[in-house]
Amino acid sequence: PTRILAASYATSANVKKITVIGSGLMGAGIVQVAAQSGYHVNMVDLKEEFLAKGEKIITSSLKRVAKKKHGDDAAASKKFIDEVMSRISLSTDSNKAASESDLVVEAIVENIKTKQALFKALDEAAPKDAIFASNTSSLPIADIAAATNRKDKFAGLHFFNPVPQMKLVEIIRIPETSDEVFNTLSDVTKKMGKVPVACKDTPGFIVNRLLVPYMMESLRLVERGDASMQDVDTGMKLGAGYPMGPFELMDYVGLDTIKFITDGWYKSGKGLVGDKLVAPSPLLEKLVKEGHLGRKSGKGFYTYEGVGADKGK
Ligand code: 3HC
Repeated sequence: PTRILAASYATSANVKKITVIGSGLMGAGIVQVAAQSGYHVNMVDLKEEFLAKGEKIITSSLKRVAKKKHGDDAAASKKFIDEVMSRISLSTDSNKAASESDLVVEAIVENIKTKQALFKALDEAAPKDAIFASNTSSLPIADIAAATNRKDKFAGLHFFNPVPQMKLVEIIRIPETSDEVFNTLSDVTKKMGKVPVACKDTPGFIVNRLLVPYMMESLRLVERGDASMQDVDTGMKLGAGYPMGPFELMDYVGLDTIKFITDGWYKSGKGLVGDKLVAPSPLLEKLVKEGHLGRKSGKGFYTYEGVGADKGK
């Protein structure tokens, strides 16, 4: 037992500095929860303006967290926010950031070639013991890891939107992922206040494998004229206890994202090729073609006040 305890202490203590590549909604959220938990984090993106956007996502979310923690105590809130922000460094140089990190989490565009090129470069720049993880929700982890020479130190680390609020993290093991790396990632996510679950490298892992076909079925229901989208949303909220109905959730996640995920699985998802569960939906296709992508564009199934609006219907 002594040896096991010592090993487990060693793994969680190994990760001190984290680099997150990508400062969009997911990347910024991961940076925030890591910094909130005491880690020093590099937030990396291609341009300063993207980093500024990511910083804004973090500060506005931290304000919500601070309000819950400290109520109207403005001084305590400011101290909390300043302390978290002081642990975050910004960079446009992914190789340099990775060179001083124990864990690199990638949350960039869902493009296999772009991810592979990034990890290939990082593999040379990062310390040889550093762990690499991808937050991809739709691409096989094995295909991304193939660009590196550290498959034993590679895994999926899949967070959920909004990252500061959603407690789950899926840890995706490829056959090569070592037990030590899996345990370290599990410890790190727990330290971030999250609950890790494990899943093999299969399309959608656990949550999206169930959630995405559910969203697609809600589209088919409306396309057939069986029920209105408002009634489907009300039904799932009040009849199944979901915090959002499927149409609200699709607007929240982004209609382009849903289309991208299902198109990918329909064409090449292991066990899902040609499956009617993930076949294209004319209603979704039409909205995406018109540029109505959900909350982020101000309109999806519902309309929202102001582009990128957080609230409204
Ligand atoms: N930062 C910090 N806290 C936040 C936050 C943010 N960005 N967004 C919401 N919160 C907190 C609020 O402070 C509040 O906290 P409290 O309950 O402790 O006071 C709580 O979340 C609820 O927020 P609101 O009262 O403002 O709003 P709602 O009650 O409507 O909840 C919601 C908003 C949390 C988004 C809720 O509707 C929800 O859970 N929706 C479902 C989200 C979901 O299913 N996400 C998964 C999507 S799939 C995915 O991400 C995978 C990807 O790969 C596609």
